[in-house]
Amino acid sequence: MDQQLAIIVLAAGQGTRMKSATPKLLHPLAGSPIVAHVLRTARALDAAHVIAVVRHERDQVAAAVESVFPGCIVVDQDEIPGTGRAVEQAVAALPDDFEGEVLVLNGDVPLLDADTLSAFLARHRGRAAHASVLSARYDDPSGYGRVVRDADGAFDRIVEQKDATDEERAIDEINAGIYAFGAGALRDHLANLTTDNAQGEKYLTDVIQLLREAGSEVEAVPVSEPWLVAGINDRAQLSETAARLNALIVRGWQLGGVTVEDPATTWIDLDVRIEPDVTIRPGTQLKGATVIATGAVIGPDTTLVDCEVGENAEVKRTDATLSVIGPEASVGPFSYLRPGTVLGRDGKIGAFVESKNATIGEGSKVPHLSYVGDATIGEHSNIGAGSIFANYDGVRKHHSEVGSHVRTGSHGVFVAPVRIGDGVYTAAGTVVRKDVPAGALAVNVAPQRNIEEWVQKHRPGTAAAKAAEAAGEASGSASIDASAD
Ligand code: UD1
Ligand code: CA
Repeated sequence: MDQQLAIIVLAAGQGTRMKSATPKLLHPLAGSPIVAHVLRTARALDAAHVIAVVRHERDQVAAAVESVFPGCIVVDQDEIPGTGRAVEQAVAALPDDFEGEVLVLNGDVPLLDADTLSAFLARHRGRAAHASVLSARYDDPSGYGRVVRDADGAFDRIVEQKDATDEERAIDEINAGIYAFGAGALRDHLANLTTDNAQGEKYLTDVIQLLREAGSEVEAVPVSEPWLVAGINDRAQLSETAARLNALIVRGWQLGGVTVEDPATTWIDLDVRIEPDVTIRPGTQLKGATVIATGAVIGPDTTLVDCEVGENAEVKRTDATLSVIGPEASVGPFSYLRPGTVLGRDGKIGAFVESKNATIGEGSKVPHLSYVGDATIGEHSNIGAGSIFANYDGVRKHHSEVGSHVRTGSHGVFVAPVRIGDGVYTAAGTVVRKDVPAGALAVNVAPQRNIEEWVQKHRPGTAAAKAAEAAGEASGSASIDASAD
């Protein structure tokens, strides 16, 4: 642990440009709130003290901070606005004798990585500077504070957009809002900040100015790639940042041995885990804590949320949440796996099948057009096309059980709760309301009656009646009857 390092994460701002009921810092990015990315980076730097400053929607933001980083100290900013006030209140929460470095991070700058920050901090410490500022050159610097340099190119000061002259606004080097300070120098000057500026805020950038006036050394350090310090202020920047992060994540998995056929249409959350030799086909989203084992082929057009997929499984054109797909199993196309689906090794969930809270054992298949809800199916059973597990009596859900090596006919209805024993057959169109013992054939279909010439009598003149008459003439009989030959 770096005993000489304290990190302050600024997370009190309102984020009005998102135009959202959700606090800006809690909008999701690769499966985690924006601020969680910054907190992960802070954790990677292993600082002795990490403080997040909250105010806007403080309960929601504080809860998110505590869930991703339990040891983080949460400080509430009072009604005095500005980045300077936020840092002032955070510093007050540090031990009085802390004399190391204070690194200030922005809660809405999620792509800045721990390696870049370590290098920045090492440079700051190496020069024994009182403050260092990360900067970037932007084609469109509007909205940011600008870094003003002197004739020799040395750092002079930072000017806020709203306080800048036209000439200063033409500068393309911006203040990224990421700083390293010596704790003592920072404490000395925070106390002297005022709200005497265009925004009526305590500017953290004024500490830089006060340091300069006191003859202290300040350096602005440009980042290698401007996107590293890109902030998220509106939803356009959110999607740009998400695309950038996704490209990095996809590339990481590609270099780790995963085939991703179309990176542009493949979205992978940060917490997903994928083994080598997985193939991901176009239009696939892997979300949450999804885990994919080697040899699996996922997609095209598949969304998996918090799923576990076994070795060599195939999942195509599928939407699945909180489901387990066993090794060698096959799912899709057009399958909908809702929470609690567990498909065993070599099992199958086929086209237009919906499942929920259903365990389908090894080698068992639900190939076509079925609903399996609240059911346990044993091993090597086959559920006929168009089967429904009727789990809901209008008030409560009930569970059904099907044994192993069962063959159910097409268009069966299993009215829960019901138990179907091992080796059972059911006839097509059976509504199973009673338990079926092992080895039985269940039939409850009424015998079929054919009422001869019903169509000609009751639907005269229709196309159907004409077709029936034509068929009768062709066979030399009014009805189709084997005995007529
Ligand atoms: C600040 C800098 C500006 C820089 C920009 C980079 C100042 C005065 N200006 O601009 O030079 O180019 O960052 O993004 O510092 N926050 C608080 N409490 C507040 C206000 C803001 O915690 O009272 C937090 C926000 O949640 C955000 C960060 O501080 O994470 C930056 O705030 P924002 O309003 O985006 O920055 P500016 O003040 O516009
Ligand atoms: Ca502001």
